[in-house]
Parts: sequence; structure tokens; C-alpha cells
Amino acid sequence: MAAFILGLLFFVTQSPPVPSWPADRSDARPSLSPPQADPLPLNDSSPSAHPNGTVQQLPGVIIIGVRKGGTRALIEMLSLHSAVAAAQNEVHFFDWESHFQRGLPWYLSQMPFSYPGQTTVEKTPAYFTSAKVPERVWRMNPDVKLLLILRDPTERVLSDYTQVYHNRLQKNKRMQPIESVLLQDGEINLGYRALNRSLYYVHIENWLRYFPLDSIHVVDGDQLIRDPLPEMQEVERFLELEPQINASNFYFNKTKGFYCLRDHGRERCLHDSKGRAHPRVDPSILQKLFRYFHEPNRKFFELVGRTFNWN
Ligand SMILES: *[C@@H]1O[C@H](CO)[C@@H](O)[C@H](O)[C@H]1NC(C)=O
Ligand SMILES: *[C@@H]1O[C@H](CO)[C@@H](O)[C@H](O)[C@H]1NC(C)=O
Ligand SMILES: *[C@@H]1O[C@H](CO)[C@@H](O)[C@H](O)[C@H]1NC(C)=O
Ligand SMILES: *[C@@H]1O[C@H](CO)[C@@H](O)[C@H](O)[C@H]1NC(C)=O
Ligand SMILES: *[C@@H]1O[C@H](CO)[C@@H](O)[C@H](O)[C@H]1NC(C)=O
Repeated sequence: MAAFILGLLFFVTQSPPVPSWPADRSDARPSLSPPQADPLPLNDSSPSAHPNGTVQQLPGVIIIGVRKGGTRALIEMLSLHSAVAAAQNEVHFFDWESHFQRGLPWYLSQMPFSYPGQTTVEKTPAYFTSAKVPERVWRMNPDVKLLLILRDPTERVLSDYTQVYHNRLQKNKRMQPIESVLLQDGEINLGYRALNRSLYYVHIENWLRYFPLDSIHVVDGDQLIRDPLPEMQEVERFLELEPQINASNFYFNKTKGFYCLRDHGRERCLHDSKGRAHPRVDPSILQKLFRYFHEPNRKFFELVGRTFNWN
């Protein structure tokens, strides 16, 4: 596996090493030259400080995906921590050309006001699957910490379909039944984009060209829904945050069938669009999907050095 990653890195980085490459990175990837790209410019004179003592800061942590993986739940739970300031909206800076062209000062202007000791977090689930994003994030800050929340790839595809289905329904548009989207001539329809988004190894390879594995923490999205506290404690450790999130921050809502959050006595649940029921899918089609994802999953486990309890 190491040889494979090395080969991959050599393939994309043929430029001479730069002296500013941090030492701890060269430990992880000996004799490798870093990717060559100019840092994104940030105009120091951009106004960002506010008289009430808060500032806008670039994110030190980005939740990069995956779509339908539980990114909203993760950022809501993370913002229980007093040292975290979370951006409310998905910013789409690194993946949307029209936003990226406005430059880092614009990105900064989208960030919440926070106290200087706080870390800003942004989430845009489309970053993970967009091939041009890793380099751009690296150019902003090669030391940024990345959170990636994943679910069983088959579940993710069904959830992806369900979201598109509901969006189209709201616009009074027709939607093909799931069988005809998933299958073509009785076999898995490889042209279905949602399938590609679940090929996690393809996407993580793009990120590993720029970031060492220890800059990326994978959150188990299936686990986070079942039992959020242990997953959040791991996230705190990864981000080197003081342990703060505890059992009293979560309570189970039986009507919803999900955990809701308690933040300084205020209770809040995720929007009802989260955790929608998936369409019933013929077990033989599910089996095909499990088989289809078997090898891609194995490759992903190898790349991140960890296995997940996926079908
Ligand atoms: C920096 O920002 C100021 C105002 O925000 C602008 O006038 C100036 O042209 C900018 N400089 C650069 C190098 O972008
Ligand atoms: C500080 O000012 C910013 C910008 O107006 C505002 O968004 C924020 O809520 C204020 N924070 C506090 C604690 O007053
Ligand atoms: C989706 O993945 C398949 C390989 O399984 C590949 O042939 C195809 O080009 C990919 N499609 C897109 C849009 O990336
Ligand atoms: C959990 O954290 C809250 C503050 O967020 C604190 O008031 C409470 O005492 C903690 N509970 C336990 C059991 O540590
Ligand atoms: C539990 O969920 C239901 C259904 O979404 C909601 O109406 C109710 O307010 C929630 N109760 C609590 C205590 O969170």
C-alpha cells in the first residue's frame, strides 16, 4: 500500500522540493517533494475585526463530505464545543468557480464572527468528490484539519436518490423509480452519478496527494447516528480540543428515532429532512450494490488503514 501511495505522489509531483515543507510531513512521506502551487493570497487589509472583540477567521477545520454522510449532524454536534465557531451555510468556495474567483478575502467574509481563541469550521459536502478541491484547500493552508464523515456506500446512494426525489417532488417534477436509475439491462448502471460519489477510494486518493493521512479524520456516520458521544469524543481528540462534549448534550427523541442536542439547556433537533426513510429496494438489487462496492470499499480501507462495518 505504501508503495502504491508513493507511486501516486510521484506521479503528480515532479517539481523540486521547497525548503518550507514542514518536517513532520516529510516523516510521513520520506523523500517526497510537496505539491507545487502558490499559496492563495489573502489581503491583510481586508476588514475582519469587529469592535465587540470578535473577528472573522479562515477555517482551521473543514468538513469536506460526503454528501448524505451526516455532515449537518456533525457540524451541529461540533458546535456544542465552546472553542468552535461554525459557518451556518455551505460556502462552496473551493468547488464553485464563481466563488473561488472572488478569492480568499471573499471566503473570509463568509465566516462567522468568533473570538480569537476559537477555531472556525466550515462544511461543504461536495468538496470531497471534487477533484480540483484538495489542491485549492492545500494552497489556503497545508496544515488545515479535515473531517470526512462517511456511511455505508449503498445507504449513501439510496439517501442521495431520496434527496433528489424529494427536491424534484417539491418542484412538481417527475422522478424515475429507483430501480430504473440503479439498473440498466439488469446490471448496475455505471452511469448513475450517485454511485461514483460512493467510490470513496477514488476521492480520498485525490486528497492524499496533498494531505497526510494524519490530517484527515474519518467519522463513522452510521455510528454517529446510533451513538454520537464516542464519535464526538474522537473528533475532540483529533482536533486537540479540550474534552467538553458529554452525555448530557444528547437525548434520544423517540418520535424522530434520532438523537437531538442539548446546548446550554436549549434543545434542538435536526431538520425533518434529515433521516428520511429510504425507498424499499428489491433485495436482489441491494445484493448487486453490495457486490459492486465490495472491492472499492476494500481499497478505501487500505488507503486509510482502517475498516468500517459496511455491507
Ligand atoms: C486589498 O484590499 C483593499 C481594500 O479592501 C484594496 O483597495 C486593495 O486593492 C487590495 N490589495 C490587493 C493587493 O488585492
Ligand atoms: C459581534 O459583532 C458581530 C458583527 O456585527 C456580530 O455578528 C456578533 O453577533 C457580535 N458578537 C457578540 C458576542 O456581540
Ligand atoms: C464513474 O465511475 C466509472 C467507473 O466505475 C467511470 O467509468 C465513469 O467515468 C465515472 N463517471 C464519472 C462521471 O465520473
Ligand atoms: C456536561 O457538560 C456541561 C457543560 O456543557 C456541564 O454543565 C455538565 O456538568 C457536564 N456533565 C457531566 C456529567 O460531566
Ligand atoms: C421530538 O421529535 C418530534 C418530531 O420531529 C418533535 O415534534 C418534538 O418536538 C421532539 N421533541 C423533543 C423533546 O425534542
